[in-house]
Amino acid sequence: MSKHGSVTRLTVVSTARTRLTTWTTARTRLTTWTPDDFADLHELHADPAVMTFLRRGTPEPPEETHRRLDTYLREQESPGWTKWRVEDLSGQMIGRAGFSPLRKDRELGYTLAQHTWGEGLATEIARALVQWHRDHPFDGSGVAYAESGNLASRRVLEKAGFNFVGERDQGGHPQAFYELPAIGA
Ligand SMILES: CC(C)(COP(=O)(O)OP(=O)(O)OC[C@H]1O[C@@H](n2cnc3c(N)ncnc32)[C@H](O)[C@@H]1OP(=O)(O)O)[C@@H](O)C(=O)NCCC(=O)NCCS
Repeated sequence: MSKHGSVTRLTVVSTARTRLTTWTTARTRLTTWTPDDFADLHELHADPAVMTFLRRGTPEPPEETHRRLDTYLREQESPGWTKWRVEDLSGQMIGRAGFSPLRKDRELGYTLAQHTWGEGLATEIARALVQWHRDHPFDGSGVAYAESGNLASRRVLEKAGFNFVGERDQGGHPQAFYELPAIGA
């Protein structure tokens, strides 16, 4: 309580160093982040191939990765979902996947290290996340978007059950928007 009697709202950023597994798929585990994950997260986002559709192929500067990790640490505390860390069954980080708040909705997204591409992993993870979304009811919809030319990502969304709802320009780049059908629709 401040001296004026109002409650100060603190931004909670977890400093917990214990990793929790939030979800598993046949070949991966989705885990929470710890502050020690900066180097792995930055390595992923510094790969120009990974960043082709995320940042016009330019590596993410370290300060942006720091902000990204802070966001993930904060979101895993509240609302309790984020773009979680993805590891293989040996425990090596191979990407990030999960949800971000997008207006009133839950936006599903994924980014995997290049050496894992083409093996159906993103589809496996996206399907698991759709199940997670269904199992954790929420007022908004399940949505996703990808740059229009990101055909691999769009294919993953379609295979995970998303419907294409149209293209919108965002920052000068056409983005393809998708929505999950309501259960029973
Ligand atoms: C997009 C990404 C997640 C896909 O991961 P992945 O594990 O290779 O995906 P999957 O193997 O599950 O599925 C990819 C699908 O796209 C298809 N595909 C791949 N490249 C394609 C292309 N250039 N054109 C058309 N289809 C393509 C594959 O054939 C496969 O479909 P299929 O199973 O029907 O054959 C991965 O490439 C990535 O992390 N990219 C960088 C980050 C990124 O763009 N994230 C998405 C932001 S919206």
